[in-house]
Amino acid sequence: MDKNNLIAYAARLPKAELHLHIEGSLEPEMLFKLAGRNGVDIPFKSVEEVRAAYQFSNLQDFLDIYYQGMSVLKTEEDFFDLTMAYLNRARADNVRHAEIFFDPQGHTERGVAFDTAISGIVTALDMAKAQFGMTAKLIMCFLRHLPEDDAFDTLKQAENWLDRIEAVGLDSSEVGHPPAKFERAFKAAHERGLKRVAHAGEEGPPAYIREALDLLTIDRLDHGNRSLEDDALVARLVNEAMTLTVCPLSNLKLCVVDDMKVHPLKRMLDFGLRATVNSDDPSYFGGYINDNFKAVIEALDLSRDDIKTLAKNSFAGSFLTDGEKRAQIAAIDLVN
Ligand code: ADE
Ligand code: ZN
Repeated sequence: MDKNNLIAYAARLPKAELHLHIEGSLEPEMLFKLAGRNGVDIPFKSVEEVRAAYQFSNLQDFLDIYYQGMSVLKTEEDFFDLTMAYLNRARADNVRHAEIFFDPQGHTERGVAFDTAISGIVTALDMAKAQFGMTAKLIMCFLRHLPEDDAFDTLKQAENWLDRIEAVGLDSSEVGHPPAKFERAFKAAHERGLKRVAHAGEEGPPAYIREALDLLTIDRLDHGNRSLEDDALVARLVNEAMTLTVCPLSNLKLCVVDDMKVHPLKRMLDFGLRATVNSDDPSYFGGYINDNFKAVIEALDLSRDDIKTLAKNSFAGSFLTDGEKRAQIAAIDLVN
């Protein structure tokens, strides 16, 4: 099958997106709209100028701009508009289920209440379910460059929302902020019935992935690219059927890989790792989930079965119930 047919096949498949930062879906057009609505100054004159600024040589370069972009998000309506825009865009890519990260500390740190952010987000999630049957779950991330005590404060602010939060996550600057720093906060989240995920092995070493497994008792691994440097770790991840939420365009934009042709996705599948394809911060990295599938299909030697496996993995690795997973996975086999 030629690559264009594979790209079209991937686009048609029902899929889940498991690694998406809602704040990273803030498109430049909406950045300007919200800046105008809220009277926030931004250091750009045009959408083109914003896009031109999205050149990064590592994770921190990106994070600096990402936190700056958040400054336009002020009201519940802003969070609703942002989330609704993502859900509509994901729907166009045949995303049937999304597990969405949000960074409450990116908002509370600048005086926007936790309740304001989460209210706007969950209203949009409920509307997408009612209007077009798309399901979604919310993952509350702790910013790892901040102290663990701040993560505990965030957990306290989430107390009234625990029925709307599926899991906690760990994101932001990885190197120098190992998972061990958050062992107690993750344990407290576990005790409150929350699942656990963590970014690990994006820039950080395999040892950080082991810590995420052993100390944070993660249910899913975000990125995990650098697991491939450690054969015993790969064997463990395969053995535990750990899902990896891989983000190809993000990896290219943040120089985690030098060229898509050397991206590890195909090797991960060949090792039997449960890899999935995701967009991470689509507004900043050049595309949504189908753009990510297109990029890896063009660059790597992925078969039709590989693509089907990636779509099935996305549901298998989700936090849906077993019955919901079965129904979604069955629908994949019906697509030609
Ligand atoms: N926050 C948003 N995107 C991120 C990424 N790819 N890694 C770490 N933190 C993030
Ligand atoms: Zn991420």
